[in-house]
Amino acid sequence: MKSFVYNGQAGRVVFGAGSLQYLGREIEALGAHKALVLSTPEQRASAEMIADLLGPRAAGIFDRAVMHVPVETAREARALARQLGADCAVAIGGGSTTGLGKAIALDSGLPILAIPTTYAGSEMTPIYGITEAGMKKTGKDARVLPRTVIYDPELTLGLPVGMSVTSGINAIAHAAEGLYATDANPIMDLMAKEGIAALGRALPVIAQSPVRAEPVEAVLQARSDALYGAWLCGTVLGNVGMALHHKLCHTLGGSFNLPHAETHTIVLPHALAYNAAAAPQAMQHIAEALNGSSAAQAVFDLAKNNGAPVALGDVGMKEADLDRACDIAMQNQYPNPRPLERDAIRQLLQDAFEGARPRK
Ligand SMILES: NC(=O)c1ccc[n+]([C@@H]2O[C@H](COP(=O)([O-])OP(=O)(O)OC[C@H]3O[C@@H](n4cnc5c(N)ncnc54)[C@H](O)[C@@H]3O)[C@@H](O)[C@H]2O)c1
Repeated sequence: MKSFVYNGQAGRVVFGAGSLQYLGREIEALGAHKALVLSTPEQRASAEMIADLLGPRAAGIFDRAVMHVPVETAREARALARQLGADCAVAIGGGSTTGLGKAIALDSGLPILAIPTTYAGSEMTPIYGITEAGMKKTGKDARVLPRTVIYDPELTLGLPVGMSVTSGINAIAHAAEGLYATDANPIMDLMAKEGIAALGRALPVIAQSPVRAEPVEAVLQARSDALYGAWLCGTVLGNVGMALHHKLCHTLGGSFNLPHAETHTIVLPHALAYNAAAAPQAMQHIAEALNGSSAAQAVFDLAKNNGAPVALGDVGMKEADLDRACDIAMQNQYPNPRPLERDAIRQLLQDAFEGARPRK
């Protein structure tokens, strides 16, 4: 076994169907008394449900979380927390809402309790992103890591099927790249393999659930598996470095405004195909976790067979922009198992644009 550094990050996880009932206990365990509840406008009803559950421990609701965390929004939320005397924040939602909580924590040190309702995994990472004057700055700071995370699969039952599949493959991308990270370690490898396998099992059941009218128990089981997988994959993202796939997705999301989870879903098979020969063991682990013979094809099939988009052309990318995307992706490269070769990256983007099934 090669030498490694493992840096365990503290964080309490309360997992299971119905675990939201422990919210009050968990706020108390943080030593907090008044929580500002954060959500997107779309999840206002969930925020109200949380505030009702908190009763006198609810300081108020801030329901204006949006993608990419504009600095003005973070400042407003922080000012409201101060004005209401909140001594913690509860973020219910996906990566955008957790991201708002992180931006508040970065400056104020306010403890965050996260209740994830997608599979993005932000709640398990010390990575934050804030957008100022149109530029997204990202950084790492231990202060932004949520102190407690309540994973309650019942809260994900309403996540639309399409978003569930793309969000789940977004999570798989964290684990897949973690397996060939330059700072990979055997603990994260275990989590990555288990996380990919849990999501690989769960997503087809979730995708079929409205059609086949699965018994509720089977759907809840699949939702539990998916959230468990998302937790593990998010932990991998928070612990080891990402590579070509994440660089491409940051480029496409940041410079071309493509949707986050869909972009991850479309690009991942092609990034894996690009790296396949340079990271054979990681590929074998990914393929085995998905019961396939090729990592790239298994991820592509998981997306396509479950109704997710597979072509960048279908989510707003223009073919005329592929050269520029390639140029941006070649700058400030992340470490990657295979060196970045311009012609091959351009071909990768073309394949992703067209939605071609990887050949290997
Ligand atoms: N810092 C990190 O470590 C990290 C990790 C992953 C993602 N992110 C960031 O998170 C953002 C993407 O997060 P996301 O993919 O979770 O999307 P999101 O948080 O933007 O959510 C998308 C939409 O789905 C809604 N939604 C969430 N859960 C729902 C549910 N259960 N039922 C119905 N609607 C629901 C939200 O309210 C929102 O309207 C990106 O900005 C990305 O950069 C950050």
